[in-house]
Amino acid sequence: MTKEQYRENVALLNKYAHYYYVLDDPLTTDDVYDRLYHEVLAFEEKNPTDVLKESPTQRVGGTPLDKFTKASHPSRMWSLEDIFNAQELQKWLEKTGKLVDNISFYCEPKYDGASLNLIYANGELAQAITRGDGVVGEEVTQNAKTIQSIPLTIAHQGKIEIRGEVVIFKDEFEKINIERAKEGEAQFANPRNAAAGSLRQLDPKITAKRNLVFLPYGIGINDLEEKLLHKRMELVYSWGFREPPRRKTTAGFEAIEEVYEQMKAERDGYAMMLDGMVIKVDQVEAQEEMGYTVKVPRWAMAYKFPAVEKITTLKDVILQVGRSGAVTPVAIVEKVDLDGAMVERASLHNFDEIDRKDIRIGDKVIILRSGDVIPKIVKVLTHERDGSQKPYIRPTACPVCNSELLDEGALTKCQNLACSARVVNAIIYFASKPCLNIDGLGDKIVETLYNEGLINNVTDLFSLTLDQLLALEGFKEKKSQKLLDAINGAEGCECWRYINALGIEHIGEVASKTLCENFGVAFTEVSKEELIAIDGFGEEMANSLLEFVRVNAEHITTLEQILMPKAPAKKEEAVENPFKAKTVVLTGSMSESRGNIKTMLEALGAKVSGSVSKKTDFVIYGEDAGSKYDKAVSLGVETITETKMREMLR
Ligand code: IVH
Repeated sequence: MTKEQYRENVALLNKYAHYYYVLDDPLTTDDVYDRLYHEVLAFEEKNPTDVLKESPTQRVGGTPLDKFTKASHPSRMWSLEDIFNAQELQKWLEKTGKLVDNISFYCEPKYDGASLNLIYANGELAQAITRGDGVVGEEVTQNAKTIQSIPLTIAHQGKIEIRGEVVIFKDEFEKINIERAKEGEAQFANPRNAAAGSLRQLDPKITAKRNLVFLPYGIGINDLEEKLLHKRMELVYSWGFREPPRRKTTAGFEAIEEVYEQMKAERDGYAMMLDGMVIKVDQVEAQEEMGYTVKVPRWAMAYKFPAVEKITTLKDVILQVGRSGAVTPVAIVEKVDLDGAMVERASLHNFDEIDRKDIRIGDKVIILRSGDVIPKIVKVLTHERDGSQKPYIRPTACPVCNSELLDEGALTKCQNLACSARVVNAIIYFASKPCLNIDGLGDKIVETLYNEGLINNVTDLFSLTLDQLLALEGFKEKKSQKLLDAINGAEGCECWRYINALGIEHIGEVASKTLCENFGVAFTEVSKEELIAIDGFGEEMANSLLEFVRVNAEHITTLEQILMPKAPAKKEEAVENPFKAKTVVLTGSMSESRGNIKTMLEALGAKVSGSVSKKTDFVIYGEDAGSKYDKAVSLGVETITETKMREMLR
């Protein structure tokens, strides 16, 4: 590798990392990245004086510290005043309107993590300081360098402070806690604590492992000429920082309310935890005019979302027996409002978890809803105990059929195949939305049919008669006939529904669809090799499927004969055309809706994708095309106008 090639390779590695960590759009595989990284590292070892500041090898943290050094922020890090409802927003807008005229507001998410101040000088990251008391914080530069979404160098020479929030994404938080549970380590109570704890590690190698993400939200001292905050932030994003999932510069109560409602509605879908929306005056001059109180700026405000974390009391632990026999504890808690829903139940994972956290009945606990619908107990407030709390004793017998439980540590199982809870739950699952979607066959009705001795397994459903149903309490002619029709309507169902309804362990809706696309009903005749060759199919899934087919061959045949599932329609081969088998991205406004154009292109055999990558064949653009067009140009992807597309089809 020559010095010139070394420079190019560092630039290429940084481009790969930017696409991966900042744009969430990988350009290559880990393998290609790792190989190039090691070549770069080898060159640097031989030529230590040529090492570039921005080389990704410079992110690897050095030796652990004994303690952190205190460092002053070049300019103070403020906090924000909170508001909680529309009236307070209205009032705040009136107040700001009296202070300055003609202003607009930059709205962006309020991230729930740990704040960090990055100081760049001469285009290089010089220092990273935690917020501390806003005036003095702790220097964590080594740790910050391990965060891939923090650029080591930026295209700006002047001294500048870039402020942002260090967060851990929700899925990563779940993963870390599962790992920690396995290792018998204490759980993080929420993603914020996990982020803050990981940022303040004396050993940067630990920080590096936590997949922290930096989300910029502001600027401290600077020499920028832009007079609008949103323009300044655009500049920051262009230097390689992550953009917020939603942002808007707007004015007026209604418009701001609308952005807030949108952000709140999308909140669960975002990778990071949000606890509100921040509203900031966009005009920097007006900001300066408005100034600060002792603690907060007068030109900004945090409009909080309803809390997803609350303190409540654990009243009881009840047991649930699933269709596979797994017995799981469920916490019954004092009713609390969590993000607009009244919550009484929280998940506890398993009995080991209760022991590990030393959860006792009567304890004050923190519950958190971070992504899943059912909140979890994440922390016990042991300091609130008054002696009345009682330890929980693990069950040894099934709460439903009383047979002895098999305790495998993390998993506790009722082994009685005829346990009524297992049978009933299996039938409920069979009829549920992602399976056969049998309208009207919900929990209650399944229980009634089972208790009356009319059904003992899923196949019994198909021999139910009108007379049998009419004999039940509350079943009139119309309701009974409707239910029978719905059950019989499952005949000829889509093949993937039938596969999913079998309830095979590790084979959910997505895997069922994949199986169905690849093999149709013949999925029972497939070998392990063929299964593993499918994208997304692992060893565990393949083994589970093969074992199920071996043990339940007869049941599968009977169900297939009853249901006669439809194999997916073979797509008709598209006629030859320039877009057949090509990957296409649509952007900008077109002569008709993009949805229509997408349908047309798909009928021509094109794959229409939402994001541009190296694999895109064409970006078809209309008026006001934005970042997708720019990205296509920078990647060298062919761009064509809508008119050109129509010409090509003629
Ligand atoms: S602006 C001059 N914007 O919230 C205003 N802060 O409650 C200073 N935070 O310490 C803060 N997302 O750690 C701002 N988009 C955002 C934010 C944000 C999260 C945190 C930040 C700050 C705290 C204030």
